[in-house]
Amino acid sequence: MTKRFPPAPPLGEPMLAVRPSAEARTLLALRRSANKQFMGPPGPSPEDLDELLQIAARVPDHRKLAPWRFVVFEGEARARFGEGLAAIRAGRGDPEPEVETAAKLLLRAPVVVCVISSPVNDGRTPIWEQELSAGAVCYNLLLAANASGWAGNWLSEWPAFDADAGKLLGLEEGERVAGFIYLGTATMAPPERPRADMAEKITRWEG
Ligand SMILES: Cc1cc2nc3c(=O)[nH]c(=O)nc-3n(C[C@H](O)[C@H](O)[C@H](O)COP(=O)(O)O)c2cc1C
Repeated sequence: MTKRFPPAPPLGEPMLAVRPSAEARTLLALRRSANKQFMGPPGPSPEDLDELLQIAARVPDHRKLAPWRFVVFEGEARARFGEGLAAIRAGRGDPEPEVETAAKLLLRAPVVVCVISSPVNDGRTPIWEQELSAGAVCYNLLLAANASGWAGNWLSEWPAFDADAGKLLGLEEGERVAGFIYLGTATMAPPERPRADMAEKITRWEG
């Protein structure tokens, strides 16, 4: 296994609070998701992925609750989950093309990681904050993957919001899908897309 990331320091080790890096700035400035229709093999190996997930989990997290978890789909499991999704759609009498699309959903990339928001009810940490931490995990996974040479795309699509698909995933009470992170190799260079007009997004508070 190729270790691409430095190991986590020992607990309590003094850490640098800043880490200026031209490469990190380039990654952030030029980051782009892969097109979901143009992804293919290869993808990260199970060992690579374990390391990516460890890095992805290194996010801000109020009260250190780690309010998220991962369900990994690799190899055969992608097709088997697809069969379950297809059965859900077929059971509702949905048109055949939609049933077929459901069956192939996870086959669009060699590895798919479902990031699940799994908030802890400690009576004092807002669920919203915990869900934001799960979103940060999704984005951190994309960045870690990109920095390691893998293309990624953060998708939700209908299984993220469907109760039966949630059962198939094994969602517990209060859990929600933060995203399905598709990982692999881009087969087409994604063109730059429109970006927000920052002048409309930024105000300076003047009281
Ligand atoms: C929570 C979340 C869910 C998303 N779900 C979908 C989706 O279901 N389908 C889709 O085409 N894009 C979805 N996207 C958008 C893509 O992940 C991606 O951000 C978008 O294609 C823009 O590309 P960029 O990441 O290169 O800026 C989602 C983004 C987020 C943050």
